[in-house]
Amino acid sequence: MKKQRTTFNSKFGLVMASVGSAVGLGNIWRFPYEAGEHGGGAFLIVYVFCVLILGLSVMLAEFFIGRASQENSVGAFKVLAPHTMWKIIGYNGVIAAFLIFGFYSVVSGWTLEYIYQSIAGNINASSVEKFTADFDKFTSDAFRPVLWILVFTLITHAVVLLGVKKGIERTSKLMMPLLFVILTVLCIRSLMLPNSIEGLKFFFKPDFSKITSDVVLSALGQAFFSVSVGMCCMITYASYFNKSINMPRTAVSVVTLDTVVAIMAGVVIFPAVTSFNISPSQGPSLVFVTLPNIFQQMPLGGLWSLIFFVLLAIAALTSIISMHEVVTAYLHEQYRMSRSKAATIVSLSGFAVGVICSLSFGILSHFRIFGIIIFDLLDFITANLMLTLGGMFICIFVGWFVDKKVLKAELTNNGTVKFRLFSVFVFVIKYIAPVIIALVCIKKLGLF
Ligand code: PFF
Repeated sequence: MKKQRTTFNSKFGLVMASVGSAVGLGNIWRFPYEAGEHGGGAFLIVYVFCVLILGLSVMLAEFFIGRASQENSVGAFKVLAPHTMWKIIGYNGVIAAFLIFGFYSVVSGWTLEYIYQSIAGNINASSVEKFTADFDKFTSDAFRPVLWILVFTLITHAVVLLGVKKGIERTSKLMMPLLFVILTVLCIRSLMLPNSIEGLKFFFKPDFSKITSDVVLSALGQAFFSVSVGMCCMITYASYFNKSINMPRTAVSVVTLDTVVAIMAGVVIFPAVTSFNISPSQGPSLVFVTLPNIFQQMPLGGLWSLIFFVLLAIAALTSIISMHEVVTAYLHEQYRMSRSKAATIVSLSGFAVGVICSLSFGILSHFRIFGIIIFDLLDFITANLMLTLGGMFICIFVGWFVDKKVLKAELTNNGTVKFRLFSVFVFVIKYIAPVIIALVCIKKLGLF
C-alpha cells in the first residue's frame, strides 16, 4: 500500500508556503526594473492582466496535477499519464528548478553582502559611478560572492532537511508576515519623501502608447517567473495539500498576494527614485546600485538599507527553498534515496552551479555562449524558455488530455466546494494560454 503522503499542517501554512515560493527576487528586484525599463504604468497593466489570466490558470492546472497525483513533478505525470511522454514536462521542471537555483543563489548571496555592509555602515559612496564601480568590483570578485552563496545554500539546506512541515511551512509562516510588515513600513517611508507623487504617477499612470509587443513579452515572462509556474514548483507543493483544501481559492490568494507585493515594491522604489531625481530605467542594477545611492542620502540611511536588504533576503530564501524542494522531492521519491541524501546532493551540485554563475561575472566572464555570460544564459534559458514552454505544455496536458470530469471533481473536492468559473478556466488553458505562450516563445526566439 502507498505510504500516506506528508501534508502541510494548516491552510494558513500552505498559503504562506506557496506565497513564499511566489514572492521572491522576482517581485522586489526583477519586477521594478522591468517596469522601470518598460514604461511603468503601461507595463503594470499588461503584467496584471498576464498574472491574473495566464499565471492564475497555469497555477491552478499545476495544483490539480500535484494534488491529484500526490507525487513529485516527474512522478505526477507517471501517475496521471502512465507510459506516455508527458513526464518530460516533469523533467523539464526539475532541470529548470535546479538551474534557477544556481543563478538565484548568486543574487540571494548579494543580499547578504548588502546586509553585512549596511550593518558595517559601509553603504556610502561619493557618486552613482562609485556605487556602480563598487558593485562591479564585488560581483566580479572570485571569493566574497561565493562565500555568501555558500551561506545561503547552507540555510536553504537546513530548512529543506527539516522537511515540509517543520522546515518549509514553519519558515514561511514566520517569514511571510514579517515580509509584509517590512514592506508596509518601507512603503510609508517612501511615500513620505518629497516629490514622491512623481514616482507614483510614473508607476500607476498608464501611457498606452508605450504598450509594444516587447512590453507584452517581458510582462508575460515576468508573470510566470513571479508566480513560480511552468517549472512544476506548484505541482510539488500541491502534492502536500490535503484533500479538503479549496484549490481555486488558494490559487487566487497566492496570485493576489504575489501581485500586491510586486506593486508594493514599486511603491517603495519609484517614489524614492523620482524623489532623488534618478531615472527609473536603470535595469538590473536598480536595487543594488540606485537604491543604496538613495539610502545614503536619506537620514538613517544605513538602517533603511538594512531593512530593505533583509526584506530581499527573506523573499529570496522562501523562494529558493521551493526550487530546492522540487529537485529534492524528485530524487528522494524517484530514486528511493533518503531525504537527507537527496537534499545533500541538490545543495552540493546547486552550489557548484551557483559558483560557476558567480564567477561568470569575473574570471569566467570571457567564457560566453551566444555572446552572453553563463549567469545571463541560465536566466534566459530558464525564465524565457523552460518556464514558458513548461507552462504551455502543462496547459495542453490539463486542457486536452485530462478527463474534464476528473479535473472538475478534483478542483471542487468532489463537488463540495464551488468553482463557478470552471468552464472559463478550461477555455483559458485549452485555447488562450497555449496560443499566447507559443506566440511569446516564438517571438522571444526571434523567429518572427
Ligand atoms: N517566484 C520567484 C520569484 O518571483 O522570485 C522565483 C521562482 C521561484 C521561480 C520558484 C520559479 C520557481 F519555481
